[in-house]
Amino acid sequence: MRLLITGGAGFIGANFVHLTVRERPDVQVTVVDKLTYAGHRESLAPVANRIEFVKGDVADVDLMHRLVGECDAVVHFAAESHNDNSLRGPAPFITTNINGTFALLEAVRAHGVRLHHISTDEVFGDLEIDDPQRFTEATPYNPSSPYSSSKASADLLVRAWVRSFGVNATISNCSNNYGPYQHVEKFIPRQITNILSGLRPKLYGEGRNVRDWIHVDDHNRAVWTILEKGIAGETYLIGADGEKSNREVLALVLELMGREPAGFDCVADRPGHDLRYAIDSGKLRSELGWEPEFRDFRDGLAATIDWYQRNKDWWQPFKEATERAYGAG
Ligand code: NAD
Ligand code: DAU
Repeated sequence: MRLLITGGAGFIGANFVHLTVRERPDVQVTVVDKLTYAGHRESLAPVANRIEFVKGDVADVDLMHRLVGECDAVVHFAAESHNDNSLRGPAPFITTNINGTFALLEAVRAHGVRLHHISTDEVFGDLEIDDPQRFTEATPYNPSSPYSSSKASADLLVRAWVRSFGVNATISNCSNNYGPYQHVEKFIPRQITNILSGLRPKLYGEGRNVRDWIHVDDHNRAVWTILEKGIAGETYLIGADGEKSNREVLALVLELMGREPAGFDCVADRPGHDLRYAIDSGKLRSELGWEPEFRDFRDGLAATIDWYQRNKDWWQPFKEATERAYGAG
């Protein structure tokens, strides 16, 4: 199989490339990535001689036609992915997440190529803390931020291209990922690298917000399951029953790194901050037979902390600029 992976130099995409090279040596991998501030060639260094890398924009119609015409399937990770950035400047979220997905859809339509589109649970909006319901494939879309509304827009384009043009596409909506190679702007790596840099961790508001954590390899194995067994036109939710409040996650980071429980700052809350996400991944489990392998969050988090401790060369070059963008908060 010749597989085109968009956004393969980002957090989840790079881990997907590593997993694919490691476990599916018969797959020929091409990565296309614009190398924005969030993309790092270094994340692909261990597999550099096993893949083809193309620096390019998913919104580049001609490039997408050429690359899609040379492959059998596409996994589409490329996106602007950070909510806080989407509040500071939404423009690239529209051009990459919406126009980029449009360009890719036109290319897979023209070439009859299979597409798997990577999306997020944020398209469903948020839940109350005590709501017994979790998100399912039937939950209506109700996104809150410029980021999540751009992802919702992209999902709707994919659905329309399936229905109107018979494009062979599947969609997955996953919850919050953690693991190696995640940008230090995101919650868990920001706190770990703050501690490693002599800064205090920063908790938004009171830290009551709940996220449903999943290890990035569990997400990526689910993507492979959908790629191989998923039904065209279907959506699958990916989650590993990992609900935790931000306060709980931070307490665990502090404990695992040998810091005092009170060794953090509460800072201004994110505007429009979604309260809780929770995924019911029953369809993926019962219909396609996927199960998560990382069942102990504490162990997965400890391994992630260890990775950031051992890979300072990877994150230190962009740590300072990231904290500057956050300002004093
Ligand atoms: P990331 O920000 O770490 O990586 C995004 C990658 O896309 C980067 O390598 C960047 O250079 C590339 N990119 C950005 N704009 C591009 C463009 N116009 N053309 C080509 N490449 C471009 O993001 P991530 O956390 O790895 O997320 C990957 C995908 O997974 C996104 O679609 C995101 O919405 C989705 N997702 C993320 C999470 C999560 O917890 N991180 C959860 C669910 C879904
Ligand atoms: O749910 C899936 C989504 O998860 C993905 O679609 C997004 O791409 C991904 O970035 C993530 O979005 P979140 O907004 O949930 O992730 P973030 O890491 O930015 O924040 C996680 C929680 O931690 C959120 O409630 C905000 C809070 N937070 C974040 C930062 C950066 C803090 O309390 N302090 C911080 O410094």
